[in-house]
Amino acid sequence: ILCVHFQYTSNKIMEPPSQNLKTTPLLSLRRFHISEDYGFLLPNPLKELPDQFRPWMEIANELPHLIESRQLQARVNKMPLLSCQGLKSYREQRLAHLVLSFITMGYVWQEGQTQPKEVLPRNLALPFVEVSRNLGLPPILAHADLVLTNWTTRNPERSLEIRNLDIIVSLPGGESLRGFILVTVLVEKAAVPGIMALVQAVNAILQHRDNSLLRALQQLRLSIQDITRTLGQMHNYVDPDIFYAVIRIFLSGWKDNPAMPVGLTYEGVSTEPLKYSGGSAAQSTVLHAFDEFLGICHSKESADFLHRMREYMPPSHKAFIEEIHSAPSLRDHILSSGNDQLLTTYNECVEALVELRSYHITVVTKYLITVATKAKGRKPNHLPGPSQALEERGTGGTVVLSFLKSVRDKTLEAILHQSD
Ligand code: HEM
Repeated sequence: ILCVHFQYTSNKIMEPPSQNLKTTPLLSLRRFHISEDYGFLLPNPLKELPDQFRPWMEIANELPHLIESRQLQARVNKMPLLSCQGLKSYREQRLAHLVLSFITMGYVWQEGQTQPKEVLPRNLALPFVEVSRNLGLPPILAHADLVLTNWTTRNPERSLEIRNLDIIVSLPGGESLRGFILVTVLVEKAAVPGIMALVQAVNAILQHRDNSLLRALQQLRLSIQDITRTLGQMHNYVDPDIFYAVIRIFLSGWKDNPAMPVGLTYEGVSTEPLKYSGGSAAQSTVLHAFDEFLGICHSKESADFLHRMREYMPPSHKAFIEEIHSAPSLRDHILSSGNDQLLTTYNECVEALVELRSYHITVVTKYLITVATKAKGRKPNHLPGPSQALEERGTGGTVVLSFLKSVRDKTLEAILHQSD
């Protein structure tokens, strides 16, 4: 059922082309808050909040030091309770969510993963939940904070490359954390031509313009390959030991996490603890959009997890995925067209996506699995350490490798054969 595309009625296809399109490509991107230049990245994120929020910004600006010297919890407890009423623009709200999410992760995990704080004080919990509700984001650090809102150019005239980029708010992890965030920013940027191609392709199907569809599919393949190349930059900027021992902890959530089995109590919000998954690029809209467009069918278990991750996206980006889902099926169109060139190019997109997912598995193996095995070997048995469950799970709390392999293998199953 998950993979059935709702078909536009056939009389819609008979209408003149101008009415076939509900909107032009550019207009529809704008409707979903997707930038032609930056894709799902927030264009030109703010670095400062209005003056009344200085108590938050002062803490945010020295987070790594406050956490490493274990002073953050005490500082937060003394923080004044501020209302989000003073946040006017969308970009201000996104920066506030970024800042409060980073402070929250630091607050919960300051003493390490074995002694998390299970109650978030009301002066942090109340404004965080308020701004989260306004934005339709969960009250935890999400990909939308860590990556989409957390980048700035040193020289706006120059292109986006690591040397010309910086992060806005930091956590422990130094240069490796900076590299981890900025390489992911560049991955989002590399996806932009692919997102544009996808919109062009959906419109080309509606208008029965197979040449335009073919060119769009070629562009999509190139963009997926560029994403894979960009992902490879992780190796140049991120140290696996630091990723595993430091960064991973601060991205961890409080759902399916044995370190916080009941969740986090947001004081003043709810008496029951709430459960939220940690930050992960599984919350990036890019691959969800490609999967929907290419008609990839994941197993029920993987699809359930991936669909949950959509709740961590800005609502307009989630709506974009749903829009692609309800557009006419690319696969059906290719099969009924009998156009071999379209079929071959479609398959090349699927293969490129399989290669991206295989490459991602080697990255995850290096940054999580291999380091975890090494850490286990070093640790004398009688000393307490992270539980086995923690080590085998990713920051988003899935049993990592089997999930990632299933997602990759199901992608491969989408390959079309002439006889289909
Ligand atoms: C050091 C770098 C990275 C590590 C260690 C890593 C780790 C993981 C883990 C553990 C998962 C499993 C789900 C979860 O626990 O949340 C996952 C899923 C995922 N990651 Fe990464 N990741 C890294 C970089 C990236 C980047 C840069 C991207 C951007 C394309 C990405 C895209 C995804 C996607 C889309 C999924 C969902 C599964 C899928 O659709 O194939 N990851 N990652």
